[in-house]
Amino acid sequence: MHQSETAAFLNQKGGVGKTTSVVNVGAGLTILGRKVLIVDLDPQGHLADFLGIESNEVDYTIYDILRGRVHPREAIITKPLRARLFIGGSESQLSLSVIPSSRDLAEADTAFANTFEREHLLKRAIARINDDYDYILFDCPPSLGLVTTNALVTSRKVFIPVQTEYLALKSLESLMEKIESVMTELNPDLTIGGLIATRYDGRKVLSRTVVEALRQQYGALLFDTVIRENIVLAESPRFGKDIFSYRPRSFGMEDYMNLSLEIMGRIAAANTLFSVERGVITSNAEILSPPAGDQKLYANEIPGVVSESSSSISNE
Ligand SMILES: Nc1ncnc2c1ncn2[C@@H]1O[C@H](COP(=O)(O)OP(=O)(O)OP(=O)(O)O)[C@@H](O)[C@H]1O
Ligand SMILES: [Mg+2]
Repeated sequence: MHQSETAAFLNQKGGVGKTTSVVNVGAGLTILGRKVLIVDLDPQGHLADFLGIESNEVDYTIYDILRGRVHPREAIITKPLRARLFIGGSESQLSLSVIPSSRDLAEADTAFANTFEREHLLKRAIARINDDYDYILFDCPPSLGLVTTNALVTSRKVFIPVQTEYLALKSLESLMEKIESVMTELNPDLTIGGLIATRYDGRKVLSRTVVEALRQQYGALLFDTVIRENIVLAESPRFGKDIFSYRPRSFGMEDYMNLSLEIMGRIAAANTLFSVERGVITSNAEILSPPAGDQKLYANEIPGVVSESSSSISNE
């Protein structure tokens, strides 16, 4: 039976690139032919802002879902990606599904204090739409409270964006403790999918030092792809766009496409099993299948992806 891959993007440190990564990995995986849902678990509601979702478009939020008031499908908003993709000569309109957040989530710890199995509310809700998507990505708040616990209980993977700056490693200790406690007490299926170095500036000694320290401490858990500081990544939310739609020929796009490919590869590898019976290595065929159509991926662009602003090359 088809099941979505569930992943939480988490770091209790604020402003490290969680939301930027959820939106752009979500868009990257969509361009690679996957069906993706992104879920905002942060009461700040940045995910909806990021994608230009207006408040009048929102009927229900993740809070209504957690309260059991609505089926998750009723809260899903479908956002067309403004990057257009030409597959086999014809244009294909891609879209990303989004469940928006609500300010009420800030009170979740108290609101659900007496709720039965309150750590499993999200998992039970998401189970109802588990067959509908290839990937479900959770944008966590910058805290380790009940909402984050719910995200970790629902996910098979946790991805940790780490800003390449002073004190970056310090917050990781309590984060790893939190993840380990969820693994042992609530979700034995959870594994660390990887650490993502973000906002990297190769001209700064500090950026390079932090990446080296991460590599030394976490080894292969650190993704090879490093997300560089790129102004267009910070600009794109103002236009309600992911980076593929906003500036398809930027460093930001290149980095998020490479990260999306690495994430797909890691998940596929984790789902690959040696079968004694058949004497072959088997895998989740859906996840390992090549991207839809005859797309070819090059190092710094995806031919065929065009956007309204594709004429300018912005590698600033
Ligand atoms: N690689 C990058 N280059 C330039 N700016 C970036 C980059 N990544 C993120 N930013 C900017 O940094 C700020 C914080 O990023 P983001 O909102 O993704 O972090 P966050 O971890 O989700 O924050 P919070 O903890 O508040 O939810 C945003 O203004 C975003 O546009
Ligand atoms: Mg955020």
